[in-house]
Amino acid sequence: MKIKITLFFTFGMVLTAFLSILGCKVSQAVVPEGNGMGRVDSLLHLMTLDEKIGQLTLFTSDWVVTGPTMRDSYKEDIKSGRVGSIFNAHTADYTCELQRISVEETRLGIPLLFGYDVIHGYKTIFPISLGEAASWDLKSIEKSARVAADEASSAGLHWTFAPMVDIARDPRWGRVSEGAGEDVYYAKLVAEARVRGFQGNDLRAPNTVIACAKHYAAYGAAQAGRDYHTVDISERTLREIYLPPFKAAQEAGVKTFMTSFNELNGVPASGNKMLLTDILRDEWGFDGFVVTDYTSINEMVDHGNVADEKEAGELSFTSGVDMDMQGAVYYNYLAQSVAEGKVTVEQIDRAVRRILTIKEALGLFDDPYRYCHPSRQAATLLSDKNLAFAREVARKSIVLLKNKNKVLPVDRNKKIALIGPLGNAQYELLGSWHGAGDAKDCVTPLTGLQAQTTAEITYVKGCDLNSEDRSGFAEATEAANAADIVVLAIGEGADMSGEAASRSEIGLPGVQLELAKEMIKTGKPVIVILMNGRPMAIPWLAENADGILETWFLGSQAGNAIADVLFGAYNPSGKLPVTFPRNVGQVPIFYYMKNTGRPMDPNDKYTSKYLDVDNSPLYPFGFGLSYTTFNYTDLKVNKPVFKVSDEITVSVKVTNTGNYDGEEVVQLYIRDLVGSVTRPVRELKAFEKVFIEKGKSKTVSFVLTAEDFKFFDIDMKYTTEPGDFEIFVGTNSDASLSKKIKLVD
Ligand code: NOJ
Repeated sequence: MKIKITLFFTFGMVLTAFLSILGCKVSQAVVPEGNGMGRVDSLLHLMTLDEKIGQLTLFTSDWVVTGPTMRDSYKEDIKSGRVGSIFNAHTADYTCELQRISVEETRLGIPLLFGYDVIHGYKTIFPISLGEAASWDLKSIEKSARVAADEASSAGLHWTFAPMVDIARDPRWGRVSEGAGEDVYYAKLVAEARVRGFQGNDLRAPNTVIACAKHYAAYGAAQAGRDYHTVDISERTLREIYLPPFKAAQEAGVKTFMTSFNELNGVPASGNKMLLTDILRDEWGFDGFVVTDYTSINEMVDHGNVADEKEAGELSFTSGVDMDMQGAVYYNYLAQSVAEGKVTVEQIDRAVRRILTIKEALGLFDDPYRYCHPSRQAATLLSDKNLAFAREVARKSIVLLKNKNKVLPVDRNKKIALIGPLGNAQYELLGSWHGAGDAKDCVTPLTGLQAQTTAEITYVKGCDLNSEDRSGFAEATEAANAADIVVLAIGEGADMSGEAASRSEIGLPGVQLELAKEMIKTGKPVIVILMNGRPMAIPWLAENADGILETWFLGSQAGNAIADVLFGAYNPSGKLPVTFPRNVGQVPIFYYMKNTGRPMDPNDKYTSKYLDVDNSPLYPFGFGLSYTTFNYTDLKVNKPVFKVSDEITVSVKVTNTGNYDGEEVVQLYIRDLVGSVTRPVRELKAFEKVFIEKGKSKTVSFVLTAEDFKFFDIDMKYTTEPGDFEIFVGTNSDASLSKKIKLVD
């Protein structure tokens, strides 16, 4: 039977039982008119249990594989109302085709929600998230998420599985590439910027998408940096290090959270009530919905905290997971769990309401096809404006690690030998999780350099990214000998970081270091263009190369951005958002370390150090050079003794003492000298990126409040303690200019 009706809230309630008993087949007009919760509630009253569970189910289409399982029946599932959201389906045409099935061929016509991993761009690809974080430019980070949302929504998408806000302090873990690095304060700001960028300030606007804070929680603390591995950390570390960026995302209004694959102290995140209900809902007041990461409900069987998938579903659902991504556990077992009284209909309704509320907020009930306009898609993707912005972001993300004898910038008339497996490799520039990015749209270093010089450029690959083949060395050496300068594009491939891409060695793969040695042997100046998704241990290069540019994976405009920096059209301003170790044995190494009871003393054997390597990193957090130099003087604090209610102003004079105009990221760190629990030797508390003309100075001021001095005390209370602090201001986390201040009761 097919009937066409318009329902109001109360009328809908009356009809609920009636429709269910009849099992009516009704057309799309059944989605009640009106708006907001009235419509959601009235819809809820019309839904059968299976339809409700459908809203709690998310399946992948067969367009992209982002996990180990696939389902070929997703279209039938849509038709039967048993799946309410789809991921990995994109483009205006395809999402429209699937939406039509849901709206026109299901009993209630509830529109689908389309999700996708738009991590650092949809079609116009920006630098990988870690690389972009090296820009320390929050406005630009927000804008790139805005552009990504504009492109993604023009291709039919409503929901991105980003930002990834996991703190990552272990470079072996491949997913370090997807976040903002190691620091809590900075990661919070980046998380907020990305949420604001994706979601804008009006979800009904057709160019915004809902964001997803992932992977909740502590995924980055995987033992030994091995992906999906066990996490066992103290509550203090959880609350002080891993949770704050999630809380910041929540406070910025993020609409969804994704659970992580790991267990946390014995309880897998997807069945972790403490994380999902006690903290997320009760403490923080999150009112969006929670989705699992892929089949992480099913994976609890392998974790070993449940006996079977049905039990896994019950634990997950009652712990606070609303939507099951791809695992089909809710789909297969939740109705049975309701029949057995393990899960209540009220609980199901609450989860369904959360999801329908978001569909409502996106305007999907008013117009399910509002994101499906091929003409808007064509005008939006890879537009000149977006590409120009991607180039700007890319060059801001480059970090100058070394510049011996001012080898950079390079004179455009110099004859260049471009050597290395990454010199002309379009695909690699995309980095991991590159959305719908297409390798053919990427500008390589070769094409980027060629566009900015008429001098001769010879390109020789020299070796593969990761093989033992040295047969290309001779040709590379010949090209280097014939050139004025060698530009060596080496590093990792795009797929060597990201999910399921942990490495136990974090040096250059294959014979690339040997190739670098061959190049240095020629005696020509060698500038390394490093590409990578993680901090790498490159001590030999740091010692022997003349110049090193850390370029991460810069995306669509990589080659143009690299050429801008190489030839000096842009003065590099990036700073590392993560520490670079000297070797893998130092890992984990990050600036926010504790002092220990036996701080390192080179003259005392019984102090905290290694026999075979220095304690210091190769490059510290916040490090990055410029073609100019900056001098810091006149550090001043207006209130050396302050009260909790006071504002403290810290100012410093920064002078551009070199020959180029340039930007500097002025960084402020504190150290709490005595606490009821020990505190790290440095904590970033403020920064500002300033442009200073050559020869000129700027006074940069920061305002600190009591909030900046709070921590979890011995009773796990987030508070301040009176006492002495030291403030450091400078160009990276090693800043030595300092002042002591005192907090009094
Ligand atoms: C698994 C990844 O861990 C997660 O980050 C991603 O969003 C989902 N798969 C969906 O592709």
